[in-house]
Amino acid sequence: PPVVDPHPAVNPQYALPELPVVKGADPERVPIDAFRLAVAKQVAEIWDVEVEKVFAGVDTGKKGADLAVAIPRFKKGKPDEWAKKVLEAFKPNTAISKVENEGAFLLFTINKETFTYHMLRTINLASRAARNNPTSKTLHYGTTDEGQGKHMLIDFSSPNIAKPFHAGHLRSTIIGAVISNLHEAMGWKVTRLNYLGDWGTQYGMLSVGFDRYGSEEELVRDPIQHLFKVYVRINQDKSDETERFNKGEITDAESTVHAAAKRVFKAMEDGDEKALAQWRRFRELSIEKLKETYAKLNIHFDVYWGESQVSKESMQRAIEICEAKGLTCEDRGALLVDLTKYKMDKAIIRKADGTTIYLTRDLGGAYDKWNTYHFDKHIYVVQAAQSLHFRQLYKTLELMGEEFAGRFEHVSFGMVTGMSTRRGTVVFLDDILEEATETMHEQMRSNEAKYAQVEDPETTSAVIGSTAVKIQDLSGKRINDYAFDMRRCTSFEGDFGPFIQYSHVRLCSVQRKNPNVPVPVSVDEIDVSLLDHPKVHEIIYHLALYPTAVRNAFQYNEPSTIVTWCFRISHLVGSAWETIKVAGAEEESAKARLFLYITTRDVLANAMKLLSLTPIERM
Ligand code: ARG
Repeated sequence: PPVVDPHPAVNPQYALPELPVVKGADPERVPIDAFRLAVAKQVAEIWDVEVEKVFAGVDTGKKGADLAVAIPRFKKGKPDEWAKKVLEAFKPNTAISKVENEGAFLLFTINKETFTYHMLRTINLASRAARNNPTSKTLHYGTTDEGQGKHMLIDFSSPNIAKPFHAGHLRSTIIGAVISNLHEAMGWKVTRLNYLGDWGTQYGMLSVGFDRYGSEEELVRDPIQHLFKVYVRINQDKSDETERFNKGEITDAESTVHAAAKRVFKAMEDGDEKALAQWRRFRELSIEKLKETYAKLNIHFDVYWGESQVSKESMQRAIEICEAKGLTCEDRGALLVDLTKYKMDKAIIRKADGTTIYLTRDLGGAYDKWNTYHFDKHIYVVQAAQSLHFRQLYKTLELMGEEFAGRFEHVSFGMVTGMSTRRGTVVFLDDILEEATETMHEQMRSNEAKYAQVEDPETTSAVIGSTAVKIQDLSGKRINDYAFDMRRCTSFEGDFGPFIQYSHVRLCSVQRKNPNVPVPVSVDEIDVSLLDHPKVHEIIYHLALYPTAVRNAFQYNEPSTIVTWCFRISHLVGSAWETIKVAGAEEESAKARLFLYITTRDVLANAMKLLSLTPIERM
């Protein structure tokens, strides 16, 4: 790539007026902030209000105007009188060409040519800088450095070994990956941790089950499937036994599968090497398999941790602090934290037989992780069904007086209904991905002419297939439930994942299809005045809103904000193709338009990567 001068001069023709320095404004990296500042500067002077305050009140996307100020936010009394002062004194400049009054609003018109210039320039410079430094996450347009020095630890996906990977884990995986990326885009250091459900009585069950039904060969071939099968069979035995026990056909409770499983788990907790060796193998094989599947999703973890890794000492410590602080009560030999005062019920932290439970491990685990990572923030991405558990966890840590107690956040999400695969209603991540790939492949094949041109249909359908599943999951607000629909989410028609990939492909293909048009390296190689068209203005304006979309998605841990942004840019570009053509246009226009599309493609690709998608270039 060509060497980038990080501060090339602005073409004097598009020089901006002198702008005030305001906290929270980033005119260098976010061009629309420069234009908001230009408005704020004059309005603040005219009304004698602090410029910081006015800046925060210069809104985008309101009343069909480029920028709008709600008068009552700053001035009491008749809005038209306050408006009049601005209309009279406001001086149009290279940034802002016009001000009007509509009801309680002042509406400002941006100078489109200056705006287009600065937008294309900023994005292009950022893309070039990022290309020259591919490992940096904060050079792209829409990113910032403001999280520099802060560390976010995130617990997501976190499936249970032996039990199937359910829709809740799928959502956690998809949402957690995006939240991680968003933090990196804001300059945070992120540690991605997979907290495996790899401990508890069920591992005793699994061990008893494996001795009875296990196959070494199948275990190695597909550990997750096989362990699940074993788990289902031994659980069947267990419920058969319970029935017979209730009928009096079995009298010795100690001879049952359940009792045997409890003994094994107790042995595991006591550190019995024989019991542990087998469990360790199950765990390691499962992790290997999980890694393969996550790779297909373009998702990785820095640490595979899990319930089994929580130290005994921290759990013991938590129990002791709870007791010493008078937070506990007892019930039939079990120890509980009493949170009824906070309307959070009572929760067991030590079972009657002395073994630990999910909550105990999360309590001890929090302390272990604090000591290892010293996080500024720790997010857990877990289905809303566990909200009470996390409220109990965080409250208990707070009552224990842990110094790190305020740093936790439970990012929850709604349920998925109707998720089943050909294999049945029990969902394995691998099956979903396979089915998405096949369905996508069928969809692609239905257009024979196009299909013939796809170079690598296998890979392409796998990428678009996982895009379809992810976008379906990320489209709505995360707290909402949704109905899983493989047919629908893989459709090329409508606001589904394939449409976003298709738009990116189309943006890539302009350059390929017009090899005769010289590719501009910088905005100073094009004539910006040739881009004066409402369709272009709409695209530029939406590109200008991208940094805000990223910030909002980050602030509210809400990936849907980015998805909505992607659909809108895809529609805007889709409706510009016919008017803003590169092919057949006179050379200078063709160059300017090509530059617009390349720049738009860069931002769309960044947005897609934030969503953990792999932007494809051909389909
Ligand atoms: N393995 C748990 C489950 O499947 C989720 C774990 C979430 N993380 C945590 N720290 N509790 O329900």
